[in-house]
Amino acid sequence: MKLLARAKINLFLRVVRKRPDGYHELETLFERVSLADELSFRSASDGRVRLVVTGERLGAGPDNLVLRAAELLRRAHGPRLGARIRLVKRIPVSAGLGGGSSDAAAALVGLNRLWRLGLSKRRLLEHAAELGSDVPFFVLDEPFALGTGRGEILRPIRRPAARIWHVLAKPPHGISTRRAYETLPPHGLTPPGADVRMLFRSVRDGNSHLLSRLVTNSLEHADSKRLRKSLELKQDLLDQGALAALLSGSGPTVFGLFSTRSDALRAQRVLRTRHKALKTFVVATA
Ligand code: C5P
Repeated sequence: MKLLARAKINLFLRVVRKRPDGYHELETLFERVSLADELSFRSASDGRVRLVVTGERLGAGPDNLVLRAAELLRRAHGPRLGARIRLVKRIPVSAGLGGGSSDAAAALVGLNRLWRLGLSKRRLLEHAAELGSDVPFFVLDEPFALGTGRGEILRPIRRPAARIWHVLAKPPHGISTRRAYETLPPHGLTPPGADVRMLFRSVRDGNSHLLSRLVTNSLEHADSKRLRKSLELKQDLLDQGALAALLSGSGPTVFGLFSTRSDALRAQRVLRTRHKALKTFVVATA
């Protein structure tokens, strides 16, 4: 059995406040995009779970979110179940694109099927929230959703008539999500005038003028040199005709929005020649 594990970006990410449990209360708009990892699952009669990773560099040890998802299911529902899992990693790691979270969600869904556990979507969503704040969005299986709480309380929203095109630009370094939140200054929490519902309406209606003024990400205010380098790329994307450009999640990936694939491809070509170390992808809503 094979499953795709797609990446996400956040068109909107407002950090509302820091909570007593150390997490941050968010208001975010997730968009699922076409860049994807691939997971395949085979049963194993020896009762062990093994993982092989190819593609992007990523460890296959017990910290890997795929194995953490498998362990969680085994502990709760069947300690003797075995599986062989292959992960073809294409989504850059520590990039703000939710790759690890998406793999974890695919592992929950895939192993639920492989092991015939019969877990409901609701139960899978609960397990997903135990694994990470972004994991439930990928279990939800919708192209767009509003996230509140840590990002795990979700409301799917109707997709716009037209697909949105994006150029993703990922600098060579990674950024730790935990560190990004930790270095957020108090005044960087709530950008004034940010309105996620108005943003979604402008996406749905294809109102690019309004859209470009409404995308926002509180995590752009985190304090790091790597982040400042990333933010310089936003101007490059805007210069190449992006309707809007923003940091994705905790970064370092930035994305530009385009209304057509050919506009996006043209911008990608320019960015590639200017910044040799950059990884770039043209992706659509998926
Ligand atoms: O939930 P997840 O394990 O993906 O989060 C990684 C880290 O990011 C957390 O340990 C926390 O420091 C930070 N975080 C946060 N508020 C959120 C989501 C993540 O502070 N809503």
